Amino acid sequence: MKEAIAILDFGSQYTQLIARWVRHAKVYCKIYPYSTEVETLKRDKVTGIILSGGPASVFAEKAPRPDVRIFDLGIPVLGICYGLQLMGAMLGGEVAKSESREYGHGTLRFKQESRLFDGISRGEIRVWNSHGDRMIRLPLGFKAIGVTENSEFAAIESESQRLYGLQFHPEVSHTEGGSDILKNFLYKICGCKGDWVLEEFIKIKTEEIRTTVGNAHVILGLSGGVDSSVAAALIHQAIGDQLTCVFVDNGLLRKGEREEVEELFRGHFNMDLKVIDARARFLKALKGVNDPEQKRKIIGREFVFVFEETVKGMKEVEFLAQGTLYPDVIESVPINGSPATLIKTHHNVGGLPEEMNLKLMEPLRELFKDEVRELGEKLGLPHKLLWRHPFPGPGLGVRVMGDIREEYLEILRNADAILIEEMREGGYYDEVWQAFCVFLPIRTVGVMGDERTYDYVIAVRIVESEDAMTADWARLPHEFLQKVSNRIINEVKRVNRVVLDISSKPPSTIEWE
Ligand code: XMP
Repeated sequence: MKEAIAILDFGSQYTQLIARWVRHAKVYCKIYPYSTEVETLKRDKVTGIILSGGPASVFAEKAPRPDVRIFDLGIPVLGICYGLQLMGAMLGGEVAKSESREYGHGTLRFKQESRLFDGISRGEIRVWNSHGDRMIRLPLGFKAIGVTENSEFAAIESESQRLYGLQFHPEVSHTEGGSDILKNFLYKICGCKGDWVLEEFIKIKTEEIRTTVGNAHVILGLSGGVDSSVAAALIHQAIGDQLTCVFVDNGLLRKGEREEVEELFRGHFNMDLKVIDARARFLKALKGVNDPEQKRKIIGREFVFVFEETVKGMKEVEFLAQGTLYPDVIESVPINGSPATLIKTHHNVGGLPEEMNLKLMEPLRELFKDEVRELGEKLGLPHKLLWRHPFPGPGLGVRVMGDIREEYLEILRNADAILIEEMREGGYYDEVWQAFCVFLPIRTVGVMGDERTYDYVIAVRIVESEDAMTADWARLPHEFLQKVSNRIINEVKRVNRVVLDISSKPPSTIEWE
């Protein structure tokens, strides 16, 4: 891959969206802190630079600014929103301070022909605005190519300097033709050909893994989720039996999960898979523990212990592989003078300690989730696994409220399996973000046949969401809910009541603990 776009991040909530659109257009890109020096960009041989939007005002005392030399590199630069204002302010134009933010839809009218708008035949498009300040005088050499109701300079360019700016957000789906505008920047202006294809990635990574590993051995903690499964398939394709996958059965898995992992990875892929039955150990450690945070800590701690013990017993392990993804490693931007760049901790990893003395191998760390799914497909992983709903690391441990007992887990596993089966059957599974059952250790009175019952409650949680930051309960047909409820009460022993969770996030969370 020879093409690479640098996205300088000024703290916009949409920065990752820009990156995803660029990748969608088959061009590799990386997000850099806004202060990255031109030497780094030159070293990385970037083909184009995009300045993201950001929450700051160019007038703020500590307004984040890029290395001014980026404008002289001769490499095309596209400034989006705050990025456009920076370009204006740093190159001698004028930006007006604004007290209120312009937020929402606007209409962009094309004023002059521009390669940015190539192929967009309409004379105007709906665009998405979210900005405070706006440009009121252009820097030398620039012209306006598009105007909106509130701005004479909503789209600008200086073709000879290869500098472009958009006041609105092309990366947001509310902007009509936004992806075409970005594509035009990449293909028509930066001259990209689109060499970011996953087949190529597989070839390069496979080679890289082989060279790095040599004759050594790699270990990977397989959870059965998308990321670790795809990492396992990729590494296995590269080094075969030099990879050992460890799957820890902590007793908090869903029905049939362990068997499915065994069947796929050992059976189908013929991988060296160690399944560690640690059910008793986890249950013992969790006995009598009610506090959710405490439960999470114990589950994390026990996992590390079991994993370490397993690795100790193996010879010549040199690498620890993990399915870390790009969003886990993007550095968050210190805006408004916060001191150091922070690396997000990834909560799926479980904090494997440094004393393990293994070298980290993270072959997916450049990829977004959708790319990982596509990669998984190319590596032959089943659709069902790749599109599985998220499942929390602590598993059913945070879906049995309070004290965890085997009896409760068994009830929950059976109820959950019915819900998931019905979700698939009804065609709703792929439509929602998550669907699961929660076990409530409360008993209520019921009547079955002629008998009075006094049994437990199952709560059904089905949510729609884009990114799990906010979520709403899915409005599924009453007939469907009725069927789920009937089946759970009839088929799962010790359950005589099913309730539906109709809370949104916020203020509730998706999981109950
Ligand atoms: P909440 O409950 O915070 O969940 O609204 C947001 C999303 O994160 C998942 N989740 C976790 N995932 N380890 C994980 O790997 C965890 O400890 C954990 N807790 C919550 C949850 O299922 C939802 O998709």
